[in-house]
Amino acid sequence: MVRETQLSPTDLIAPLFVRPGEDIRQPIGSMPGQYQFSIDTLVSEAEALWELGVPALILFGLPDAKDPTGSRSWAEDGIVQQALRALKDRLPDMVLFADVCLCEYTDHGHCGVIRDGAVDNDATLVLLARQAVSYAAAGADFVAPSDMMDGRVAAIRGALDDGGYSATGILSYAVKYASAFYGPFREAADSAPQFGDRSGYQMDPANVREARREAALDLEEGADMIMVKPAMVYLDIIAGLRPMATVPLAAYQVSGEYAMIKAAAANGWLDERRCMLESLTAIKRAGADLILTYFARDVARLLD
Ligand code: PBG
Repeated sequence: MVRETQLSPTDLIAPLFVRPGEDIRQPIGSMPGQYQFSIDTLVSEAEALWELGVPALILFGLPDAKDPTGSRSWAEDGIVQQALRALKDRLPDMVLFADVCLCEYTDHGHCGVIRDGAVDNDATLVLLARQAVSYAAAGADFVAPSDMMDGRVAAIRGALDDGGYSATGILSYAVKYASAFYGPFREAADSAPQFGDRSGYQMDPANVREARREAALDLEEGADMIMVKPAMVYLDIIAGLRPMATVPLAAYQVSGEYAMIKAAAANGWLDERRCMLESLTAIKRAGADLILTYFARDVARLLD
């Protein structure tokens, strides 16, 4: 009765990794309990989530080939495109998000195309827009740009509208820090940069005013939801953005946050169930409406 913050399966978006092949559930070493799925096992996982009351998932793709521009990310027979069609067919009411970024698809592992040794922001916008339209055509309800190029929300919104996908929404990774907590994800998605780092386009963890500026720009450009990422060490950022977030505010409890709890629990140093619930409740208490979390299935089972 007196509890101010309620956690519900309907708050959750489950991140899932999809790869080519059949009948594959390849465990991700640094993220116990998480897998790279082939499309058939991905659909079963999504059905299990749906039955537990989790209304949404976000897809990350491991393509069959990589190149300098990430061209497999906008191919009609790309891995995420195939997965979206299979999921829409089987689970028409589940909300499908597709992560839009080039890093899983480029051979150099950066989130944009490279010119003269650095990421070329504006040349990348065209490719991200192409990827977003391709995901919309395959059945994505929301595209979620995580690349952190400037101006990509406007570029993607324009391309979606021109392509006839005005009903496809944009969840923008508006406030994404250059964080060490993404470590395990880069193994899971095979997306580590081959040279340099992402600090040219992701945010400095020391900055808070920049978060407001990034969020304001994305709202102006037409984002339908905005996100803060990571979550647990950026609760002040979530709380700070709450008043200006006139659209749903999401937070991403990232791979490293998940891995820390899992590893400590595996050693008997932390109570996994309680830490999972406490961390997710804290993220909601800070002001997030929606949470992307690798705990989605476990916590939904617990709340069921
Ligand atoms: C792709 C992307 C990343 C994550 C989501 N989308 C990795 C990165 O920016 O290096 C991280 C998610 C996680 O750590 O769980 N740009």
